[in-house]
Amino acid sequence: MSETIKEKFIINGFAGKKSLKGKLRVSGAKNAALKLLPASLLFEDKVLFSNVPEIEDIGRMADLLRGSGAIVKKKERGVYEIDPSKIKNGDLDYEISKRLRASVVLTGPMLSRFGKVTFPHPGGCVIGARPIDIFLEGFEKMGARTSAVKKGDKESFVIKARGGKLHGAEIFFKQQSVTATETFMMAGVLAKGKTILKNSAMEPEITHLAEFLIKGGAKISGAGTTTIEIEGGGMLKMGGQEFKVMPDRIETGSFLILAVLAGKDIEITDCNPVNIEALIELLKLSGAKIKIGETNIIVKENKNLKSVSVKTHEYPGFPTDLQSPMVVFLTQTKGESLVFETIFEGRLNYTESLVRMGANIEIWDPHRIMVKGPSNLKGKVLESPDLRAGLAFVIASIVAKGESVVHNVYNIDRGYEQIEERLKKIGVDIKRVKN
Ligand code: EPU
Repeated sequence: MSETIKEKFIINGFAGKKSLKGKLRVSGAKNAALKLLPASLLFEDKVLFSNVPEIEDIGRMADLLRGSGAIVKKKERGVYEIDPSKIKNGDLDYEISKRLRASVVLTGPMLSRFGKVTFPHPGGCVIGARPIDIFLEGFEKMGARTSAVKKGDKESFVIKARGGKLHGAEIFFKQQSVTATETFMMAGVLAKGKTILKNSAMEPEITHLAEFLIKGGAKISGAGTTTIEIEGGGMLKMGGQEFKVMPDRIETGSFLILAVLAGKDIEITDCNPVNIEALIELLKLSGAKIKIGETNIIVKENKNLKSVSVKTHEYPGFPTDLQSPMVVFLTQTKGESLVFETIFEGRLNYTESLVRMGANIEIWDPHRIMVKGPSNLKGKVLESPDLRAGLAFVIASIVAKGESVVHNVYNIDRGYEQIEERLKKIGVDIKRVKN
């Protein structure tokens, strides 16, 4: 599917009935794979990844790598081999980078390897300002200088390491940032000397990326804590080992919310529940009964759910990426729930559409809403604004009465692999239709 092919989902809701049954398999993590693929640039030999989600964003990242001379081969579904030996330079394709926020993480390995990178301001979901100041300040500390170049109406940043090579540095992140932590962890791998990252983000995808780099010989300690140390060295080597992408925790959480709302007997498989403890805790507080295994979660019919307040937070707190499905959940619980989105300022706009569906939501300011429930939602025509709110609309449509149409399926495909096929298997009445 591409951005130019317009498709929509047509969903017939169950009006709050608990009827879904069967297994829901969780895919590999988008936000892990989107960093692992760029990390292959730090390797001198081929790297092989399995459990890669087959989604739009991965296709774009693979194209960015190809544009720089890497050979990216899809061996079979979810299995990708990358040969980084022929990479020529650190120039990122303008159009693709603009459309993918994760393109910014390529600056780390590119600068580390070539001492230079050219890239535009990265795009991605429209959920807030999403600046890159933390990146530019960090690279300065590692001995690089940034300038801007303009070709026609296309403006790019050029970052160059003095003397052609980054040096290690101590960087205190003024704000915890997932992609900045990952970018500088990679930048430190081939830099001269030691890099110390303080106030680092602690998301599981960061630890996963560190495990991959360490497998290739990188000297990294502290990933998963707020202080990470990287001892710079030579190119990494995989020696033919395969690396399996971790399960997607946001998909796991979204499926869990759906299962609690509409499940009769659902098993979520191939997941790692430890990574969504914050969500599980809140769902339990609201009265949900869920059985947590090591790699699966079982949900039977849940009734009489109570309101709970939610504040998004960096990991291990409640993830901003689960805020929108959680709001749908709260529309079905009894009482008042305050939702405080602390990470992004544009990430509550979608709630206006839930109000149109019949939700009782007061929008207080760009960061806070009050949800009063339970409400009977009604099917509506909806426009998916970003991938997470898009999936939240799918969940809301399943819970609602009557038919909903969710436009902009492209946005959902960016992050979720064949979502309608998986949902159909558990009994959801959903069709993908061309506009
Ligand atoms: N920030 C700055 N300056 C910067 C970088 C970030 O001020 O240079 C601010 C952001 O504006 C935001 C805060 O720092 O207020 C934290 O943002 P962060 O940098 O952690 O977000 P990100 O790394 O751009 C990743 C995920 C997002 C997820 C956030 C928060 C990827 C590719 N993206 O973004 O995922 O919401 O962390 O957990 O890993 C999604 O998958 O739908 C998605 C948006």
